[in-house]
Amino acid sequence: MKDFWKKQIEKHWKLVFLAPMDWYWDSAYRQAMKKVAPHIFSISEFYSADGLVHSKFLADSVLPHDKSEDPLVIQIFWKDPENFAKAAKIISDPKYNIAGIDVNMWCPAKKVVRSWHGSSLMINVETAFEIVRALNEATHLPISVKTRRSFDGNQDLLAFAKWLEEAWASLITIHGRTMKQAYTWVADWTDIHELQKHLKIPVIWNWDVQNYKDGMEKVKDLAGFMIGRATFWNPWCFVSQADIDEIDSLPLHSGTSTPFNKGGSNLKKENFIDWVYHPSLREILELMQFHAEKLVETKWEKKWSLEIRKHLVQYLKHFPWVKAYRKRLVTTDSLENSISIINEIRDTFKDFLDKRPSLGEIEKEEVDLN
Ligand SMILES: Cc1cc2nc3c(=O)[nH]c(=O)nc-3n(C[C@H](O)[C@H](O)[C@H](O)COP(=O)(O)O)c2cc1C
Repeated sequence: MKDFWKKQIEKHWKLVFLAPMDWYWDSAYRQAMKKVAPHIFSISEFYSADGLVHSKFLADSVLPHDKSEDPLVIQIFWKDPENFAKAAKIISDPKYNIAGIDVNMWCPAKKVVRSWHGSSLMINVETAFEIVRALNEATHLPISVKTRRSFDGNQDLLAFAKWLEEAWASLITIHGRTMKQAYTWVADWTDIHELQKHLKIPVIWNWDVQNYKDGMEKVKDLAGFMIGRATFWNPWCFVSQADIDEIDSLPLHSGTSTPFNKGGSNLKKENFIDWVYHPSLREILELMQFHAEKLVETKWEKKWSLEIRKHLVQYLKHFPWVKAYRKRLVTTDSLENSISIINEIRDTFKDFLDKRPSLGEIEKEEVDLN
């Protein structure tokens, strides 16, 4: 099990991940993403190790998942090795079928940093080492770490990563910004590429990857990449045109088999522009409905209605009438109500269902909503 990631690299050539996102990447979202991109690996939103140890309710809410989400990695955060080790034992229970544990050494939130969790472990390297070691001793699951290029610009990334490798981390993801850099910062990949030359474990790039093509161009000798925010407006961003073409000699393509080139896909080559798939309004509405239904299955109704609203609006980002529906989508309070709004869009735009909003194929002037 500890060589899980090495085996995955032999199989897939490059590893493509759905980046962990608190308050977004729950079981329902992961199922929606895997429906359109079955080849990705997903890491859960972060959970407190202490919370998992002290709340059976939390463990039984967040660890069970659908088969389609496998292999699923659970991300945890905390500050002391003892609670990490106890949480690892719970997560490793075979009944949950979890594939790995990822340690959050990423989180920049003031509250988290001040109390020595998350990214502050970058400046508390001995504890970081002990946490990874303790986790490895507590479980057969592979232990990975998601961290940053630096805490405040003054740390040595290579020394930190080597330290984690020595503690038997089996994969490391580097978010390309320091804890203090703003979202506007443009990433420089040079030192991250350099890192892989000095480490035996796979290094994964994370920051501002827009789609599969963009990731493959940036990743070079690194083991893979992770996409977070870009999935909001295009869940199909992980799909590669080469997978549809069944051609393995094209640039950027791994030449290995994915579920797409086994004949299971309805995606058509002509709907890729510059290697990026642009979903039709029909496909977007279908995924919105699937996601809403899965969220009801996995969460209780009140929590569901608070959580689904942000997703429904995001799915329609390129739809020119999103504003006309926004108010209703962000106040929806039942599955029935959400499906009725989705059906109303289907009905009003029935002549446009196969057009692609992100390509501007639906013009605002074409439909009179009154
Ligand atoms: C709303 C939100 C929640 C996030 N939650 C987590 C988290 O729980 N764990 C983590 O390691 N990173 C978290 N991240 C960071 C993302 O995993 C990722 O590093 C970041 O979005 C940069 O990748 P991107 O440019 O592809 O979006 C979060 C980011 C956002 C915007």
